[in-house]
Amino acid sequence: MARVRVCALKDLPEGGVQIVRHGGDYIAVFHREGKLYALDDTCPHMGGSLGTGYVSKEGTVTCPWHGWEFRICDGEGVWPQGIQIRTFSVLVEEGEVFVLLDEKGTN
Ligand code: FES
Repeated sequence: MARVRVCALKDLPEGGVQIVRHGGDYIAVFHREGKLYALDDTCPHMGGSLGTGYVSKEGTVTCPWHGWEFRICDGEGVWPQGIQIRTFSVLVEEGEVFVLLDEKGTN
């Protein structure tokens, strides 16, 4: 299990997003309603950065390229439905934010 540092917690305030690179992967970490969620940053449609997308009050993120929309809490596709993006566990330790990945870069 790899532990990838994202940032200091103070640099990820409520409503904020940080994007971290690990190998060839990019992971977006969202701070929403007091919780941290990590998703694959790369949109499965054509590779837009979800971490730079619009976050709704309902807890979804919309890809800035063509509007595909996913739930932040579990990566499930809202539009179109039936698409699932990878999610990762998030750990906060001594004021630092980490995502946890297995050897294949998944979790
Ligand atoms: S790249 Fe995300 S909707 Fe097209």
